[in-house]
Amino acid sequence: MYYFSTFISGFQDIVTSLIGQMLKDVEIVSVFDGVILYKTSAAPEKIRATKIFSNSFMLLGRYQVSADKTPDYLVKQFLGSSKDMGAETRSEIGRSRYETFRVISSQRNQLYSTDRVLLKRVEDKILKNTNLSVDRLNPDVEFWFLTRSEGIGLFGMRITKHKSYDKVLQRGELRPELANLMCWLSEPGSDDVFLDPFCGYGSIPFERSGIAEYERILASDTDKDKLKAVAAKFQSTTNRSKILVSADDFFKIAAPKDLVVNKIVTDPPWGEYEKMSVETVKFYEEFLQKCSELLAPGGILVFISSCKLEIDEVLKKLAPKLALEQSYDILVSGKKARIYKFINN
Ligand SMILES: C[S@@+](CC[C@H](N)C(=O)[O-])C[C@H]1O[C@@H](n2cnc3c(N)ncnc32)[C@H](O)[C@@H]1O
Repeated sequence: MYYFSTFISGFQDIVTSLIGQMLKDVEIVSVFDGVILYKTSAAPEKIRATKIFSNSFMLLGRYQVSADKTPDYLVKQFLGSSKDMGAETRSEIGRSRYETFRVISSQRNQLYSTDRVLLKRVEDKILKNTNLSVDRLNPDVEFWFLTRSEGIGLFGMRITKHKSYDKVLQRGELRPELANLMCWLSEPGSDDVFLDPFCGYGSIPFERSGIAEYERILASDTDKDKLKAVAAKFQSTTNRSKILVSADDFFKIAAPKDLVVNKIVTDPPWGEYEKMSVETVKFYEEFLQKCSELLAPGGILVFISSCKLEIDEVLKKLAPKLALEQSYDILVSGKKARIYKFINN
């Protein structure tokens, strides 16, 4: 079966390497900035379980399109072809007990309003091919027609569903797929003593807990209200006794007794929503020094920040006990940010 999945722009390399670990027989067809097209025998449940993607779709059509073409062009191609929705699509509709659908169009990552006559015709074609009925407001499943700036058009059935992040995430809380990818960058292992010292609402430790076994997860923050939300997130986690949530100022914490931290994955303040106690360069200088003190030799630090210039300045003058292994420039809610991966020497 062919699928395509969307992911956070800037993560092509890491997504390309991770997808091979997550879906054993995967064959990558093409990768663009923010979308990967691949073939695998994995069922849609397996694709849903890979939390690194923003959304995933079963591929129903792929088209070469020139830059001036709108998604209506794809709709017309689909209407003009004798191809129906295919047995695998119908079988997934039955397995997931979908009853209603709607059609969505997107051009260069922006929602696009499909021509009304075409919309009606494509809805009719889909409902004749499936047992679904139309619900334009709150459907069980969506069929997407997307055109992208790279000259590619995709038609697919969306197999992931989540509430709009505006509605479910707290201010400053990281999107789950971003937190998940950051955890993967730390090379998860069952002996991990994993620390997020600026855990906020707990997106990073929560994603880490779902990826692989661990020895301990330590999550701390100075904001006690946020920590209540973290505790609630972990309520139904099976390994609850291995997760320690505490109200601590990172700059004052001591190395945990009897445990050696080997992974730090975190999202320190960017100086926008949360005020920093000291000026930005000093903050990151102390942050990196403290991370290096806490981490075991060979330990991994992954963090995200928008303060690139300040961090560059710190990196110029800091003795490189922490060696920068990789950095990724990404956009977080339209804001430029960088993810850093360091190894402690
Ligand atoms: C960018 S937010 C983290 C958001 C988090 N990743 C999430 O998804 O909710 C930074 C966090 O650092 C915390 N913080 C600021 N200064 C701190 C300090 N000195 N020690 C520990 N936490 C601190 C803030 O309370 C805030 O929750």
